[in-house]
Amino acid sequence: MSVPGTVAVVGGGTMGAGIAHVFLAAGSRVVLAEADADRAAAGADAVAASLRKAQERGKIASADAALTGLTTVDSLAALPADTALAVEAVPEDLALKKTVLTAVASACPDAVLASNTSSLSITALAEGLPGERVVGMHFFNPVPVQALVELVHHAGLSPEVLARVRGWAEALGKTVIEVRDSPGFATSRLGVFVGLEAIRMLEEGVASAEDIDTGMRLGYAWPMGPLRLTDLVGLDVRLSIAEHLARELGPRFEPPALLREKVARGELGRKSGQGFFTW
Ligand code: CAA
Repeated sequence: MSVPGTVAVVGGGTMGAGIAHVFLAAGSRVVLAEADADRAAAGADAVAASLRKAQERGKIASADAALTGLTTVDSLAALPADTALAVEAVPEDLALKKTVLTAVASACPDAVLASNTSSLSITALAEGLPGERVVGMHFFNPVPVQALVELVHHAGLSPEVLARVRGWAEALGKTVIEVRDSPGFATSRLGVFVGLEAIRMLEEGVASAEDIDTGMRLGYAWPMGPLRLTDLVGLDVRLSIAEHLARELGPRFEPPALLREKVARGELGRKSGQGFFTW
């Protein structure tokens, strides 16, 4: 299967820009939607920078050629009616994601409605929407580099739609895992768990941040340690996922005090210049 002709990506942050990048590089037309014109322009700049980096690394032939497929809109009503796949990558807020997908569903009557949520319930997201076309399509940061797409299915999803989305993800060169809708799916549940335990170990003075990370990097062959990875993902993002998982799965996901304190101080990781490490 090839990639869809027209893909709508809602949200031009780290994940949205990365998702736009991979569909453009594979030949889709991508319409990037943001809340206003300034954010749409910033999102387009992020996509362009990512494609240029891929070209420098010899991963794609021409960033400029891929960018000819990119347009932006600052209103969901302006998304093209022939959109085959819409992927939302707005912040992890169920109400916000529902509002977005509802607007996308009315602008794009035939589109598969995919959410890049890393932990929220796809079943809850699909309520009140054409559920047979609502699917979790979870990409990983940095999207052009990470080989995985986690597809999350719920009871109302059409098997044909799931197969179609699998084909599209594979056409991007990604490997797919299929996971039943459950809190944190397969990846965030385990990844966040290890990250939280690393923070508790730092709190307890078991070892320095550098040594905890080096332990997992060299002892377990992780590409980066769990604390540096938390910095990359964003401490605020990790905190909100942990709070959600603590509510859904119990106190083993309770965020450590150190994580809450750092977020309250604005130490959000790489994006703020300071997290467990200085960037
Ligand atoms: N296109 C665009 N950018 C590319 C690229 C490509 N083809 N290949 C590499 N890059 C970028 C990288 O993203 C990185 O960007 P920055 O300069 O902004 O840091 C830069 O080029 C350097 O890349 P390298 O591969 O040379 O660097 P590296 O060897 O240190 O690898 C890494 C960096 C890929 C991030 C690697 O450390 C890694 O895989 N880390 C683990 C990442 C991970 O676990 N991600 C999952 C996060 S959890 C998540 O995403 C789920 C969630 O819902 C929260």
